[in-house]
Amino acid sequence: MIRIALLGFGSVGRGIARAILAKNLEITVTGLADSRSGIIDAGGIDLAAALARKGNGGPCGSPGVSPADVVAKAEYDVLVEVTPTNVETAEPALGHIRGALRRHKHVVTSNKGPIALAYPELRDQAAANGVLLKYEATVCGAIPLIHAIREGLAGNTISRLYGVFNGTCNYILTRMAEDSLTYEQALAEARELGYAEADPTYDVEGIDAAIKLVILANTVLDMQTALDDVERTGITLLTPDALRLAEDQDCTIRLIGEIVPEAGVLRVSPRIVAKAHPLVVEGTLNAVTVETDLAGDLTFIGKGAGSTETASAVIGDLLYIHDRYVQGS
Ligand code: HSE
Repeated sequence: MIRIALLGFGSVGRGIARAILAKNLEITVTGLADSRSGIIDAGGIDLAAALARKGNGGPCGSPGVSPADVVAKAEYDVLVEVTPTNVETAEPALGHIRGALRRHKHVVTSNKGPIALAYPELRDQAAANGVLLKYEATVCGAIPLIHAIREGLAGNTISRLYGVFNGTCNYILTRMAEDSLTYEQALAEARELGYAEADPTYDVEGIDAAIKLVILANTVLDMQTALDDVERTGITLLTPDALRLAEDQDCTIRLIGEIVPEAGVLRVSPRIVAKAHPLVVEGTLNAVTVETDLAGDLTFIGKGAGSTETASAVIGDLLYIHDRYVQGS
């Protein structure tokens, strides 16, 4: 059994709770908080009841319990931090993660801000306290890309990595091209379905994809980069006409992120791509090609956004920690 404190009860947090219930996973939630309320219960929180309260538009717990209370006072093995990303300061998630690491708790997060802005500090703090910091869900949703690069491709030199990193933009571009939705209609759908960030300008201006490139660069590609180092253009100015013109050439448009480590290049921009190209995936799928010296080229395709899909990455990290550190405790 592994005990977790869960911060964030939006699309990702609720996806985790539903998966724990549906699969009867050996995970007990002893602390839970959203931005308005929280619960601490060492005996295990009733997740079905919390989901029902939230589903009815209510708070997940009591207004007197804050996320900081949960971090500091709950009894847990792993802090699961799945609150919305803040790309300027990474707060309040950064403070929550630091607080848990100080208490010698493992951390699993889907929150890109702390990993993009403060990875070296958090990694060192985790190592000094003998715990793990895992963040698979920050990049490409359900695709285990961090694990694949760090473990499966260990020993390879990566010369280039490129592809579709934002499910919301891919969904919008697919719906505009195939179903003739306007940009506004497609974005509204992506928000409704829980794919977009809390602030959807992160998605459509290419910021979310750029953050993912920074995370990959700094954590598995041995680079030291910041968001400002990414050349970035979003999809906000793309018109249905531009998509139609691409279609006429048997092409389409995708928001492509690219890293060339040796040249220090990181960029995100809409590109015209032949429809038959492996990176032309539909809906919320992400697709990433990794060019390596030993393994050759590998392309990973999977859902890059969504409640259950992101929960899959978080749960994978949790069970990794369970198998190595918590089992039998
Ligand atoms: N808003 C993000 C996306 C969620 O659409 O890709 C996953 O990081």
